Amino acid sequence: MSDAPPTLVGKLALVTGASRGIGLAVAEELQAAGSHVVRLSRSLAEASADRRTDLPCDVSDPAAVARVAARILAERGVPDIIVNNAGIFFIKPVADATPDDFARTISVNLTGPFLIARTFVPHLVRRGSGHLVTIGSVSDHVPYTGSTAYAASKYGLRGMHEVLRAELSRTGVRTTLVSPGPVDTPIWDAVDPDAKPGFTKRRDMMRAEDVAAAVRYAVLQPARVDVTEIRLMPTVYTARG
Ligand SMILES: NC(=O)c1ccc[n+]([C@@H]2O[C@H](COP(=O)([O-])OP(=O)(O)OC[C@H]3O[C@@H](n4cnc5c(N)ncnc54)[C@H](OP(=O)(O)O)[C@@H]3O)[C@@H](O)[C@H]2O)c1
Repeated sequence: MSDAPPTLVGKLALVTGASRGIGLAVAEELQAAGSHVVRLSRSLAEASADRRTDLPCDVSDPAAVARVAARILAERGVPDIIVNNAGIFFIKPVADATPDDFARTISVNLTGPFLIARTFVPHLVRRGSGHLVTIGSVSDHVPYTGSTAYAASKYGLRGMHEVLRAELSRTGVRTTLVSPGPVDTPIWDAVDPDAKPGFTKRRDMMRAEDVAAAVRYAVLQPARVDVTEIRLMPTVYTARG
């Protein structure tokens, strides 16, 4: 018995945080593989093009997620692939991190993926197929100093991924956690790792396309295969990340 060649033609993908960085690369990769891609982020203007729809959405806002989800379901149907990617990041010692810094990080990095999952998972389960991809981080399993909020959000996200995997294990819905180390995207601009000792330099970091290739690998496996977790690190990196 031979498997059909891998393709996403006719599939609908939803990618959060797709205006730049990893999310943009994932959206482009999934579109290149044949799917129609819905891209969400706060700064994207509403637009549509060939096999692409852009919708503005703050994923940490329950009402905004409900509104955008209702539109996607009504206008395009139930997504086949959902990539929870939107995220924010800062580095500060715990005493310098404000309650607002902490709350905002949890709200975008953890509540956002929860809101997306709780909205769409019942539809995937009813259909008996679908793939929920979560972009975690090396910070979902390695503690880095200055990362209290980010680590809390990403360790939490890994926990949520594991629970969703258990809840969905008999439904036909797949779940994949992709956990990259440093990737050269605008998320590092405020940190400026090239100017600070102890950080992986931008030239050594992975590229957003490397993470997109991992997502593509996971979603193109035959339906019987669930790629549960992918960890990626730059070949050359410092212990600080
Ligand atoms: N770069 C790395 O080294 C690295 C390593 C491991 C994991 N990650 C993870 O990968 C993901 C993407 O990171 P990146 O490096 O690509 O960052 P980035 O270049 O800063 O892009 C972040 C994306 O998230 C969107 N976003 C931020 N807040 C949002 C919100 N409230 N609602 C909707 N969209 C929001 C941004 O768009 P708008 O500003 O338009 O909303 C943007 O599209 C994050 O989850 C990050 O934690 C990154």
